[in-house]
Amino acid sequence: MNQIIEKHVSTWADGKTFPASYVVPSGKRPGDNVVPTVPNIPVIDLSKSQSSHRKEIVQQIIEAAQHFGFFQVINHGVPWRLMDDAIGVFKEFFELPSEEKSRICLEEQSRKFSLFTSSSDYDKETHHFWRDATTHSCTPLEECIQYWPSKPLRYREVVGNYVVNVRELGSRLLELISEGLGLEHGYFAKELSQEPVLVANHYPPCPDPSLTLGAGKHCDPNLITILLQEDVPGLQFVNNGEWISVEPIPYAFVVNIGLQLQIISNGKLRSMEHRVVTNAVKSRTTSAYFIEPRKECFIEPAKAVLSAENPSNYKGVLYKELVKITRAAFIE
Ligand code: OGA
Ligand code: NI
Repeated sequence: MNQIIEKHVSTWADGKTFPASYVVPSGKRPGDNVVPTVPNIPVIDLSKSQSSHRKEIVQQIIEAAQHFGFFQVINHGVPWRLMDDAIGVFKEFFELPSEEKSRICLEEQSRKFSLFTSSSDYDKETHHFWRDATTHSCTPLEECIQYWPSKPLRYREVVGNYVVNVRELGSRLLELISEGLGLEHGYFAKELSQEPVLVANHYPPCPDPSLTLGAGKHCDPNLITILLQEDVPGLQFVNNGEWISVEPIPYAFVVNIGLQLQIISNGKLRSMEHRVVTNAVKSRTTSAYFIEPRKECFIEPAKAVLSAENPSNYKGVLYKELVKITRAAFIE
């Protein structure tokens, strides 16, 4: 069997096995800390953004992005059926027998699709994380799809359709955010969002969730991330020094602000650290759509947000530097 596939959590997790290399150092463990679930993050009804309530919705998004860096959206226009189907095919893929996954991935492994475990820097990690994941390039979609898994049979059709829908949602959200920041129409629409990536995460049940993490503490490097999660909690973020868990709301998306948008907004919108905890009972599958630019894109505060009273708080950086910083923090 392909050696890396042998390391995948879904290959060996049986509800009992707990390799010592998955124990995170004390101080970083979820432990027995009771994480308050209130206040939950703001829930924003996007259907109102097409009416006379648009200004209000813009305001709600900006406030949530300032205070929490996270919010959830409902009535977002992505069909519920498609959300179920997408999670369904991701689950089916991760639950394929290892030999099968190994074969598909040897065939499909390319810059447009990859399967990894723990983090994208497995060999550099001092401890591992309880997850398997896949990344999908999305532009141009018709070309990238050819490199995605051909099994389960509906995978390419469902995930392709999902990407078209979530891309549309992303454009709407970025337009609302640009209005809220006082930026010109279409500000985010070109280079700043040119190379979105879809990641599917799979966190199998873990015999001792107090000792390990599904994903280490990190910020996302990009503009915004649109997360689809099952009805199983696991995502937590830092708020006033405390870990707050994001309660799943059926058919809502979780949206969070990445470092790129924090810089462009000159620090007004905040990219908050987050992590994933596991649970002993259910597997959890999620899908994160990262809206991001090319690696060589130069990121700096938008001119329109700067003034004599609000001078620039950031030196410009290449996007690849943000990726490097967030990857290094993830495996700390
Ligand atoms: C990520 C992430 C959260 C989750 O993929 O960057 O933070 O709940 N995922 O899977
Ligand atoms: Ni993240």
